[in-house]
Amino acid sequence: MSQTPFEQAGSLRIGMVDFVSPDEVKVVLDIEAPESVALNVGGPRPFPRVNSYLLIPVDDAYLVGQIEWLTVERSAFPKRRGLRDFGLVDLPYPLRKLSLNPLGTLRKSANNEDRYVFRRGADALPSIGAAVLLPTEFQLHSIVESGENKRVKIGVSPLAGDAEVCVDPNRLFGRHLAVLGNTGSGKSCSVAGLIRWSLEEASLLRGGQPNARFIVLDPNGEYSRAFGDIDSPAKARIFKVNPAMGGLALKVPLWFWNSAEWCSFTQASAKTQRPTLVQALRYVRSSQSEPLEDPSHEMRRFLRTILTTIRLEKSAGSPWGQFPKPKSFFEKLEKWKTSLEPHLISADGEREDKLRVLVSRIEELCAPRRQQYAHHDFTLQEIDALIETASAAHSAFGGAEDDILPLDADTPRPFSGDLLLRSVEAVAEMLNVSEYVETLVMRIRTLLTNTRMKEILEDISETSLEQWLEDYIGADKAVGGCVTVIDLSLVPTEVVHVITAVIARMVFEALRRYMKLNEVALPTVLVMEEAHTFIRRYREDAENDDAASVCCQMFERIAREGRKFGLGLVLSSQRPSELSPSVLSQCNTFLLHRISNDRDQELVHRLVPDNLKGLLRELPSLPTQTAILLGWASELPVLVKMNDLSKSQQPRSDDPEFWGVWVGKDEEGEPVARDIDWSRIAEDWQASSTGTSEGKTT
Ligand SMILES: Nc1ncnc2c1ncn2[C@@H]1O[C@H](COP(=O)(O)OP(=O)(O)OP(=O)(O)O)[C@@H](O)[C@H]1O
Ligand SMILES: [Mg+2]
Repeated sequence: MSQTPFEQAGSLRIGMVDFVSPDEVKVVLDIEAPESVALNVGGPRPFPRVNSYLLIPVDDAYLVGQIEWLTVERSAFPKRRGLRDFGLVDLPYPLRKLSLNPLGTLRKSANNEDRYVFRRGADALPSIGAAVLLPTEFQLHSIVESGENKRVKIGVSPLAGDAEVCVDPNRLFGRHLAVLGNTGSGKSCSVAGLIRWSLEEASLLRGGQPNARFIVLDPNGEYSRAFGDIDSPAKARIFKVNPAMGGLALKVPLWFWNSAEWCSFTQASAKTQRPTLVQALRYVRSSQSEPLEDPSHEMRRFLRTILTTIRLEKSAGSPWGQFPKPKSFFEKLEKWKTSLEPHLISADGEREDKLRVLVSRIEELCAPRRQQYAHHDFTLQEIDALIETASAAHSAFGGAEDDILPLDADTPRPFSGDLLLRSVEAVAEMLNVSEYVETLVMRIRTLLTNTRMKEILEDISETSLEQWLEDYIGADKAVGGCVTVIDLSLVPTEVVHVITAVIARMVFEALRRYMKLNEVALPTVLVMEEAHTFIRRYREDAENDDAASVCCQMFERIAREGRKFGLGLVLSSQRPSELSPSVLSQCNTFLLHRISNDRDQELVHRLVPDNLKGLLRELPSLPTQTAILLGWASELPVLVKMNDLSKSQQPRSDDPEFWGVWVGKDEEGEPVARDIDWSRIAEDWQASSTGTSEGKTT
């Protein structure tokens, strides 16, 4: 180990530098350089091979290069070293050349002469004629194992003498990780492995359950098996629809949904349905805080809505705006008057006086406009006076000015579906748009009557917000386990996007609030398997308010802001070119499995810096379970053969066993049977889908 770079050069030299540019170094191989296997490096190693590493001594350190291509050139005369005999006629001799990508610098550690430290970036480039060396086993390991806090071993690097590839979990999960590759290339196994190996390592160090949180969104229901082992730190809580076969029931109460999610699910039209729905949501969410037995309650609420409506119209400048708005405002006034009048007959009192004033003011405004050919415009003074009287009536009924300030329509306060329906109808009545909200009401009713959805949405709420957060994100010190698997495979397709968006948003907002109250982040990882189902690229210019885009926008927000609140994303997908570019561009680490589609390859190429593209050429030919790790979590891009996962730890995605079923036995001779009982399937199908077909017809 105490050799200087120049002393060592004697034995490991394989060629010399022939061409230098900042991003490429070309090398002519010596005639004596190994043809296929190098034996002098402390063990047989394939050489020369694309993507393996070479060293070039520069000053007191080595420049590390990665082989990008190899070629043979027929030269007119041999480049023999030593004395040349010009009297001899040389025969043409094949000359081997290769090109290197400069990756970084390998230098003896300052405090420990026996160690090497690898750093990205080259301080100085070699000059022509410099020797090119094979790294020793020790040097190779130093290159691959470089970096700090490499705490979790994820595999070995076949190109670097099977050096261990370890990662720093802070880096791997802290800035979003994308696992990309074709079907069957090993993505799901890698994701399951990364979670398992990290937790096992943490558990060793902590001596018990790690205080970790992983939430896996699993659209195909693959992961229940992978995290099923009882006494592992990776034992998961599994939430699914219809948990007859084990697991917990998936619950996403409908009062968790925010107004955007409600609007996207019900496809509420922007003009009338959306304001009605949002207003109705405000209404049901605030009603919980008011005592129900108070008789003035109804009237107060009614007056509040009147006030809000007039103020909204005023701020939009609409009663004195263009036709036909003033007319509709006039009609609203008429409607309010008829609804208020019955309350005046019954009793006398201060409150009723105020109401009476309001009704007569409305009458004053309406009377001249009822005549034929009347104009329906309102003046600003008239509107201000109306607001004043309405406000006086409102406070007479115990309303405070604060109540009128727009209450957040998104606060997760419990309400039942029926209440929402009634509220939508009542608000529509008040805004005089009943005939326009019929479709909206119908869609909400469909949702509420669908038996399959009812199970998830929990119409009458049993779950409290607190309980839900504990179940899905994790309890204090993660006592209930570190992994939550949310099996979305049986969630009805109509709601799967909304449900996913709600879950992701609840997690995100919970962590944001945690940060606000505790001033430190609660590190949590959100894993998205088959990410193309949730974050599909959408068109920027179109009106993006359907459920799929709302879901995608939620994840885009998490990708942008999640890091600040400790929320890391892991996404896995077969179709990177179909993913939302803004989510992908926020991923700082990539684990790339085999990718053979050229569009996907092109996309991946665009994500990495120029001098690393050589390595990516290997993508189409990577074997299963092998991947390239690059980005923030890895000092330099490495080819990793991921650790083995035993069969019981792999996500369930076995290839269908055609041959075994055809011939009735598997490779080991065990019998393989597939009994068919369609009646059971038909029964199950017809029973469980009554809800959906009902939903479709209404
Ligand atoms: N780390 C591993 N240990 C053991 N086996 C593995 C590993 N990685 C992959 N495999 C094997 O490869 C097969 C396919 O892997 P996996 O299901 O992870 O692919 P995938 O990329 O998720 O495919 P899809 O896109 O279809 O979901 C597995 O069934 C398993 O046999
Ligand atoms: Mg998979």
